[in-house]
Amino acid sequence: MGKILDVREMVPKDRHSKIFETFNALDPGTSFVLVNDHEPKPLLYQFQAEHDGEFDWWPLEQGPQVWRVRISKREAAGADRTITDYLQTDHRRLDGIMERFQDALRGERWEEALSGFKEFVLGLRKHIRIEEEILFPVFEEKTGMIDAGPTFVMKMEHKEINELLDRILAATAGHDGKTASEAAGALISILMDHNMKEEHILYPESDAFITDAERAQIIKKAQAA
Ligand SMILES: [Fe+2]
Ligand SMILES: [Fe+2]
Repeated sequence: MGKILDVREMVPKDRHSKIFETFNALDPGTSFVLVNDHEPKPLLYQFQAEHDGEFDWWPLEQGPQVWRVRISKREAAGADRTITDYLQTDHRRLDGIMERFQDALRGERWEEALSGFKEFVLGLRKHIRIEEEILFPVFEEKTGMIDAGPTFVMKMEHKEINELLDRILAATAGHDGKTASEAAGALISILMDHNMKEEHILYPESDAFITDAERAQIIKKAQAA
């Protein structure tokens, strides 16, 4: 799907300039997948330094041999993006991967289904880690709402979500389409409600409680998480 830039065969000193050339040539709202043979963290930091707010960085595969990350050019570029915008974009992106997974599952294209679902698991677990380790602590500190607040409920739901991810992964790997699609249905209905609560309550409240500088720091940390 879409453009792929595989830099594994290129001499290391040419890689970054080729990657930025590819990014600069993108139309707003489009993306490419970078394929590399190591964790591209220094590249992310270079993007953050030179293209703050202009890009999204979504890892699809993280080793041990191959690293793939989708780098997209944001439609409305600007360093002042909100937490709501950033995490909502990730929800939509994950919804798209889930749809393609279900399609592969229905067609019994097992290899495509399994690699697609692995991307989904990687993306959603990273998303949950960002929420639980970076965003929620800030929200709890600012609001004083910990044990009975919205983050507590979200964390409970994350546990349920994580269990379903394991079940779907095992069923897909075992070519058990019935179990996989039933569990995927359950996951989608939990996520619909969960994401809605985050997008309408938790994220906007977080945006309201923090300063612009804090918000920019949170997003940078989240990208590197
Ligand atoms: Fe969540
Ligand atoms: Fe979320």
